[in-house]
This record gives sequence, structure tokens and C-alpha cells, in this order.
Amino acid sequence: MLTFEPTGTHLGATVRGLDLSKPLDAATIGEILRGIGKYQLLRFPDQKLDPAQHRDFAAQFGHPPAIRGRLAIFTAPGVAEINILSNIVVDGQPTGATDAGVIWHTDMVHNPTPGFANALYALKVPRRDGKRLGGTEFYNLRAAYVDLPADIKEKLKDAYGVYTGENYTSIERTPFPEYGTNSHKAHKKEPVRHPILMTHPISGEKVLYCDPGHVDYIDGVPPGERDALLKFVLAHIMQPKFHYVYDWTEGDLMMWDNLSTVHHAVLDFGPDEHRLIWRCQIEGDKVFDPAFLARTVDAVRATA
Ligand SMILES: [Fe+2]
Repeated sequence: MLTFEPTGTHLGATVRGLDLSKPLDAATIGEILRGIGKYQLLRFPDQKLDPAQHRDFAAQFGHPPAIRGRLAIFTAPGVAEINILSNIVVDGQPTGATDAGVIWHTDMVHNPTPGFANALYALKVPRRDGKRLGGTEFYNLRAAYVDLPADIKEKLKDAYGVYTGENYTSIERTPFPEYGTNSHKAHKKEPVRHPILMTHPISGEKVLYCDPGHVDYIDGVPPGERDALLKFVLAHIMQPKFHYVYDWTEGDLMMWDNLSTVHHAVLDFGPDEHRLIWRCQIEGDKVFDPAFLARTVDAVRATA
């Protein structure tokens, strides 16, 4: 029996009653997708997964891409879709990426169909004086949309966020250095544009879809208002009332919606405070396919 326990905040629920190492039926996939549509972030505690099982879980919700670029050297043996995030050093060699996801961003924004979700699995969580470190922080883009002033919604109704992939610290972000201070360049991406006021494919609700770390400018608004609107949108998203911190526990598989949240990793732990998390991305191919939603989400709705 699958149960959802909401966190009691604006984001997240714990899901019990599932062993994610085994294939899920369509109804269960539909229930999980409905849960993501409602809670945006789902924690599945006490899981025991190997890298192939982790990837196969993710693949039920969308294509899990092989890890590319600078992170590709840190993948699970034989499972190119599982990215190892770790500060553990063995024989002087790093065993995982230590600085992935430090800027505020959402994953796979550069895909022509925006990326759907991430599924991360925690194996080691750093602690100091009993307090868990190395959390993942979020802002809630659905709540940010709801809270947008009516005149801004009107100005943005036909607007697009443009992601050229050319740079990680575009001039539009200089007033907000905390959003874009990557020390590395992304590998070359093709320019894409996504509606700023995006309709979420599962919930049907609007989200304020804008990646603070990668957006270059807003298209579809008067040129004279472009920069001011982008600054407004970024400052609006990153308000304390939309903020949420996820503290990991070993055995957590946590799946979050990249379409309705932005996130970053908190590097508040030292080199001897070990963190080991596996990451698998989930592309948007399935959730933007109405036939897939009909087989899963709609089938559950019909029987609910
Ligand atoms: Fe990320």
C-alpha cells in the first residue's frame, strides 16, 4: 500500500510502501507521477539499490541520459547514467564530483524538451555534532508563479526564457552573483527557449520556469523591459517563503521535479566529512507525451 506523507511545508512528501529495486506497474508509476505533480519532491526512505536498479527506476519516468561533459569521469562502473557525487578520496584520487550543482539551477534546461526530474540516492551523509550536512536546497517555482503580481503575469504571458549555452555568468546576472559563479564552462549547447510561464505537464498548473544559473535573457517582452523583468523574476523566485532545505538520510531515494523547482547543493561539509550520493537524471520525453500520461496518470485518476 502506497502512502504519501506531506512534509507540512510548501514542498515535498515521504512515500512509503515501495521497493524501488523492482519494476513498477503502470498504476504505481501513475501514482508517483501524481505525487510529483502535487508535492514536487518525493522521498522514498530505506531503499537498497545498485546502480543498475537506480537507473532502471528512473527510466520508468523518462529517458535517463548518460552523463556527459566534465562529470562523465565519475560514473558507476558499467552504468553510464549514474553520476557519483562524492568528496571521498582514495589513494589520492577523487571518487566523485565534489562541486556539482553549486549554483542555483534546474537540470537539463538546455534540452529542447526540458528535463523532467532527478532521482538521487544517498549512501553516505556527512554529520557534525549530530546535524546532517550536505543538504540540497530548493525554491518552489509553482508557489512563485501563484504569488506573481497580476501585471507581471500579463507581461510574461507570451515570454520565453532563452538559454544560449554560451556562458555561465551572463551580464544579466551580475547583480545576482550568487546565482552564477561557476568556475567551469558547460560543454557547448544549442540555444533553446522555454515559456517562462510553463504549464506543468502532470499537474496542468502554471510554474514560473526560469533557471537562475543559466538563463541569458527573456524574449517576448518589450526590449526596454527585458533586463528589469529578468531581475524581477530571479529576485521573486529566490524569496525565503519559497525556500526549502532537504536533509538527506542514508537509504533515501529522492526524486524531484525539475520543472517546478530550482535547486543547489550545499557545500557545508569538510573533506573528512564524507558524502556519497548517486544521481540519475530523467528527461522530459515521457511526461510531455500525452499517450504516456494517459497510460499512467490518467489511468490512476480514472480509478481514484
Ligand atoms: Fe542539479
